Amino acid sequence: MFKIGNIEIKSKVILAPMAGVTSLAYRDFMKPFGVGLTVTEMVSDCGLIYENKKTLDYIKTSELERPVAIQLFGNDAETIIKAIKICENENKNFDIIDVNLGCPVPKVTKAGSGSALLKNPAKLGDMFKKICASTSKPVTAKIRLGYSEDSINFLDNIKALEDAGITAIGIHARTTSQLYSGKARYELLKDLRNMMSVPLFVSGDIYSLDDAINALEITKADGVMVARGGVGNPTLVKQIDHYFKTGERLPNATLEENKKYLLQFADMLIEEKGEYRAMTILRGIAPKFLDGYPGMKQYKNMLAQSLSTRASLERILNDI
Ligand SMILES: Cc1cc2nc3c(=O)[nH]c(=O)nc-3n(C[C@H](O)[C@H](O)[C@H](O)COP(=O)(O)O)c2cc1C
Repeated sequence: MFKIGNIEIKSKVILAPMAGVTSLAYRDFMKPFGVGLTVTEMVSDCGLIYENKKTLDYIKTSELERPVAIQLFGNDAETIIKAIKICENENKNFDIIDVNLGCPVPKVTKAGSGSALLKNPAKLGDMFKKICASTSKPVTAKIRLGYSEDSINFLDNIKALEDAGITAIGIHARTTSQLYSGKARYELLKDLRNMMSVPLFVSGDIYSLDDAINALEITKADGVMVARGGVGNPTLVKQIDHYFKTGERLPNATLEENKKYLLQFADMLIEEKGEYRAMTILRGIAPKFLDGYPGMKQYKNMLAQSLSTRASLERILNDI
């Protein structure tokens, strides 16, 4: 469908990175629904340099999910370049380096990383010239509209990144000060792709096929990033991918299908993290698989509050 560097992307759906959610199990679970590109959770460049064992786990990828991007964050070209070398040594099977320029969390921005880097496009350009020249892998970046309401400077940042040799750009249609609330503002991105020389993905409030159609129509982007809207609703990925390949609209998942998907994901997460850790994570995610079906409130509460083992998950689902 389109290419990032020499990597072919065969679906318009990009699985957006989400720290705490998009671990390998989640990415492998979502892939068969029609994901064109997966991205790891954001990984600290310094965490990799100090060979933090947990950080090394974050850069593990699978054959199934390919093409896959490893997403790094940092505040300095030299440390990011060192981290890229570590990724290349430790993992022979990934395709793209993505750099996080969108994270709004104070711990990250106070260190000058994540979306703090959007404040100065010229400096960003210099940094990316070095990063892009340091690796044979395609380098991509994920940005926001700007840091705050009075610095909506995505056009300057995109130009600086393109001049530096970037191969694709993802944009979250919110400012940093909006965090994750308020509406994604696609109206500001009208025809953006027509002003660019590299592929564009857009992100923000993609909860339905029509949200994806709308975002792509306004921006003319090459792909759309599915983030919170896909959690508990993997069928959304299938609906978007299928529509853009065939023009057909697929129905939403039935409750029975979603129960089956939840168990399937739980098993993959247990395999990755062990049962205890998997259940802790699932308390936040499992209820979302029951969203939108009538009469689910008590079961959602049970999943959120009393999941402790795989058997308890099965028991709750069987009771529905
Ligand atoms: C819990 C959570 C964690 C996130 N972690 C990352 C991350 O590690 N890297 C990144 O580039 N974006 C991250 N994001 C942003 C998403 O990729 C996406 O751009 C954002 O959620 C907007 O899309 P949505 O409104 O459809 O959820 C995160 C978002 C959420 C909700």
